[in-house]
Amino acid sequence: MGGTDPEEGPDMTDGRRDWAPASINVDQPSSARVWDYFLGGSHNFAVDREVAEAAIAFKPDMPELARQVRMFLHRAVRTAAAAGVDQYLDIGAGVPTMGPVHEVARETRPGARVVYVDHDPVAVAHGVAMLAGDPDAAFVQADARSPRAILDDPRVRALIDFDRPVAVLLCSLLHFVADADDPAGIVATLRDALAPGSFLILQHASHDGQPRETIAMLEMWNAKSPEPMTWRTAGEIEALLDGFTPLTPGVVPMPLWRPLPEEAERAAQHSDRYASYAAVAVKPGASG
Ligand SMILES: C[S@@+](CC[C@H](N)C(=O)[O-])C[C@H]1O[C@@H](n2cnc3c(N)ncnc32)[C@H](O)[C@@H]1O
Repeated sequence: MGGTDPEEGPDMTDGRRDWAPASINVDQPSSARVWDYFLGGSHNFAVDREVAEAAIAFKPDMPELARQVRMFLHRAVRTAAAAGVDQYLDIGAGVPTMGPVHEVARETRPGARVVYVDHDPVAVAHGVAMLAGDPDAAFVQADARSPRAILDDPRVRALIDFDRPVAVLLCSLLHFVADADDPAGIVATLRDALAPGSFLILQHASHDGQPRETIAMLEMWNAKSPEPMTWRTAGEIEALLDGFTPLTPGVVPMPLWRPLPEEAERAAQHSDRYASYAAVAVKPGASG
């Protein structure tokens, strides 16, 4: 992979020295930076763009898929905010872009408190810079596979009151968690810490009904990435919601989760196109 040294010519166009933490590995793609590329961002390197373009060669609508995930996330956050939720924990938040949660939530809940979590140093550096001067939001570097550490983090505790409802976002995250790392156990640990009335906002990649090209893309990614993906069936994804009550329409292909009226027809036509399921679920037991 050429030009991965920031002192060399090609990476000068990456602007690495302006925003990239010195510790990052620019020889391997990162899911956060590839996602940023799909979403039209500039926080990515040659190695990320190369893998992203290889993915696009298999599945040309990858950028639209990433955009659709953000659109789902916005619809879900607005649903939680409309229900009164004013605290958000966005795990696997990515490089902040395209309507970060604090902006969307505060349309309805001014002063909403938001903690973003990601393990990617570029996402964290950009997030910390974005939130400078915002006392009601923080960006924390942590690994989703250690949910207890996230729940106990003082920066999380300073902003989130777990005695009141919280919306936890796990969007495009849990397919980066292998079965061996117990994604159901991660969700259960989070669930047990949440007050009744809390929301789980979940989006997860799936191979259900997908064409050969899409599976080939997954295999390409897993061959090249240090963050391999485990795509799951609808049933496996539904099982992750154990102990929560899904809101209507339940666990559905992502575009079908409460599409905006003007998008409904297109969503119905393309329901399998984005290779993922989405759900918004509530922890039962809230009084009133
Ligand atoms: C595909 S991006 C999704 C970003 C955002 N949630 C969205 O839906 O637009 C996946 C993100 O999950 C993060 N991630 C993957 N595995 C993680 C882990 N074990 N702990 C924390 N973050 C992780 C990646 O760094 C990346 O930013």
